[in-house]
Amino acid sequence: MPNLYVESYSEESYKQQFLQTRMRTRRLYLALCLTLVLLFINVAAYQTILGNNSKRTKLFGTNDQTRNKSRRRRQDADVPDISNSPTIFESDRLPVTGNSTIGYTLNTRLMASIGNGHLATTVYSDTIFVNGLYSGDGFKGRSHRATIPSQNNIRAMLPSEVDAVRRFALDVEKGVFFETVTTDQVTVEQRTYAHQFYTRLLVTEIHVTRGQGTGDIVIGLTTNPGSDGQDFLWDSISSPSVASRYRHGTINVTETATSPRSEVHMYWTPVPSTITLASSESQKSVSYITSIDTDQATARESFEIGRQFARSDLYPTHLEAWRKVWDAGRIEVEGNLNLQKIINGALYYILSSLPAHDHYGTANQFYGLSPGGLANGKLLQDYQGHSFWDTETWMYPPILMLHPTLAKDILSYRIHVRGPAYDRAQENGYQGLRFPWESAFTGVEVTPGDICWECRENQQHITGDIAFAARQYVSATRDLRWLQDENGWELIRETARFWKSRPTFNRKRGLYDINGVMPPDEFHHTVNNSIYTNVVAKLSMDFANYTACLVGEAEETAGEVESWVTDVGDRLYLPEITDEKYHPEFEGYPKGELIKQADVILLGYPLMWKMSDEVRKNDLNVYEEVTDRTGPAMTWSMFCIGWLELQEYTKASQMFQDSYSIYVKEPFKIWTEAHQGLGAVNFITGMGGFLQAVLFGYGGFRLHVDHLDFNPVLPPDTDSMKIHGLDYLGSSLDFTISRDQVTINVTSLGGDYPLEIKAGDASYTLQEGVPVQLPRGPATIATTRQDSNRCTPPVVGDGTAGRLKATLWIFLLSVLLIAMQ
Ligand SMILES: *[C@@H]1O[C@H](CO)[C@@H](O)[C@H](O)[C@H]1NC(C)=O
Ligand SMILES: *[C@@H]1O[C@H](CO)[C@@H](O)[C@H](O)[C@H]1NC(C)=O
Ligand SMILES: *[C@@H]1O[C@H](CO)[C@@H](O)[C@H](O)[C@H]1NC(C)=O
Repeated sequence: MPNLYVESYSEESYKQQFLQTRMRTRRLYLALCLTLVLLFINVAAYQTILGNNSKRTKLFGTNDQTRNKSRRRRQDADVPDISNSPTIFESDRLPVTGNSTIGYTLNTRLMASIGNGHLATTVYSDTIFVNGLYSGDGFKGRSHRATIPSQNNIRAMLPSEVDAVRRFALDVEKGVFFETVTTDQVTVEQRTYAHQFYTRLLVTEIHVTRGQGTGDIVIGLTTNPGSDGQDFLWDSISSPSVASRYRHGTINVTETATSPRSEVHMYWTPVPSTITLASSESQKSVSYITSIDTDQATARESFEIGRQFARSDLYPTHLEAWRKVWDAGRIEVEGNLNLQKIINGALYYILSSLPAHDHYGTANQFYGLSPGGLANGKLLQDYQGHSFWDTETWMYPPILMLHPTLAKDILSYRIHVRGPAYDRAQENGYQGLRFPWESAFTGVEVTPGDICWECRENQQHITGDIAFAARQYVSATRDLRWLQDENGWELIRETARFWKSRPTFNRKRGLYDINGVMPPDEFHHTVNNSIYTNVVAKLSMDFANYTACLVGEAEETAGEVESWVTDVGDRLYLPEITDEKYHPEFEGYPKGELIKQADVILLGYPLMWKMSDEVRKNDLNVYEEVTDRTGPAMTWSMFCIGWLELQEYTKASQMFQDSYSIYVKEPFKIWTEAHQGLGAVNFITGMGGFLQAVLFGYGGFRLHVDHLDFNPVLPPDTDSMKIHGLDYLGSSLDFTISRDQVTINVTSLGGDYPLEIKAGDASYTLQEGVPVQLPRGPATIATTRQDSNRCTPPVVGDGTAGRLKATLWIFLLSVLLIAMQ
């Protein structure tokens, strides 16, 4: 991702930015002093609230000798996950930050989050984020997710914490964060969740159950919504009824001078300072609900529903909705609990930033996946909630295979904000759609130019990455409705049009160049003919020609689109494979020069650019040596996939390990961007790369335009793997992989595209409920539908562009010259 001059674009570099400006420095000092004072005041309160007091006493020791040692341990060690369930991440205390002088506070950076694609929050933080709500000047690179003070930052305290046992658990299957505290007297269970069906709702339930205690039991409640911040102009709080509060806000600084000023409407139930379990009661439950939407009627209606169902249906409908999500697509591995947990966590965090599958009412427009997910992205942190190529290249592919309707939602964001992309292309003298490197609310370029100008201007491959994601969507679904009625064809055609207009003709070579770009490797900011960029551009034009046929485009348009391929695509210069038989990263790349991350190796996967095994292997070897070891996690996922292609299982397994182990923080499996320290959290980009290593690496899936290949091998230390709910051409398939067999079971068959599996000489027609068992090895699934081969899928790979045509061209010119003499 983004930056080449600063170590981590997100936290650290932004912090430096702060320090550069005097005014800001002063403000920072003031804030720091204030925080320190507040911290001192709060130490005592936090110490009871953060975790199990009796456990803490043991850990810290009671005398001075042990205290110092334990202090160090406390700061350094992860809080371990103590649950044996694959879907529950549990601990007896929360991650903290601080030291013995200023005291310890909850480390919200490593805290679990909950979300449903409409809203999300880090549990016990004072902030809620809502999909599509951004504040700040986009041109200055300051558009960021707008912070909404959370009324659900609620903590419960017992009258006495003596001998209290606390447990904190994120249950990813249920999408609920649990805190339970138990003493002889009483048990309090608190559940916090972003409702997966009534998506405008954030819910906190508190259940008090009497133990041996007698008489009234009073539970203290604290709330801390934080300050109003500067992102909204807030009206004052009103009370539509005794048991409800309402507040309206409008965005303070719009992204552009002309972009609409979004509004937010929130209703919530006020939280009392205590709840009392009367002496006559053995059990009591209360719910505190916040409802948020950009439309007032929607927010109000959801709030009423929430209050009405709070005592009965609210929790079951939430669980049911998450159950449907996991039923629709998940990955199970047996024999490796830790790996299973990390897979579940990665899928959970990505899914909780995506729209709910099955939800109440109409969904709002989806505004993209950002590297920190929906629960992060405030001003100058976690990439401010922006969408990069991370969205389509890293998080999207596993979602496409397991939840194609959500993949369509992701693409719908780019389609929704295409207006400014047309303008951007035109302003630069090009045609079609040029998508910005960073995108937020309106789709204008919002990359902070003061941090990385070259990223903003030169990292143009993103337009090809989006086109490639559209290609994969069509390959997986053949969704003609999307192409024709939902602007899918426009997206494919106009990104290709950008690529046909972008190159410049090089007379010497008689071929086209794409000059002045930044490749995925951000250590090189202005190069000519980046091979990744040129290949992704060519794929975009090829696929537009194929799609023109698929949608039955009129002859004239089809002819025009085809001419992009014949005139430009097939005559695009690709840096030639060297004598040492590897692909140079760009024209003139000196072998051995350090690169930031996976770049050339992306040709093999995800682009599936055909090349010999020898070249693939050399690419992996050459670039493994020069890739910055402290680079982002996804790099290692891509090496893992490459080595698996070549059946080098030991190397693959090492790279697989490297792709997650360092980045996953216990107990809630939060991913960091940085190798050391944090960088952006909760880094769903890394999770996306990791899930690709599982699915496309070990699962061996390759989604081609007219077929789906697979060639699975078990992930390290597992006895079996099950891909549940892989979707292909309208059918849903379960793959169960064991050491020597693969079983494919169709759980629902899409009527339009009958499927056939070919493995070796055998072929099987897929039928619902009739499992097909194959020896583990390569196999192909394709449709047998008659008209499906009407259009010729593009051929991609070394020798299909540039060099071949160049030879032809030179030959023709020579003939012409000879003839003229
Ligand atoms: C709105 O933003 C401006 C500029 O950042 C800031 O000075 C001002 O305090 C903000 N207003 C509110 C109400 O937060
Ligand atoms: C890239 O191409 C342009 C135009 O031909 C040329 O001026 C420039 O020097 C080239 N840059 C590099 C780094 O080769
Ligand atoms: C364009 O697509 C058509 C229809 O599939 C195909 O016949 C033709 O060969 C393609 N043209 C090129 C240059 O790839």
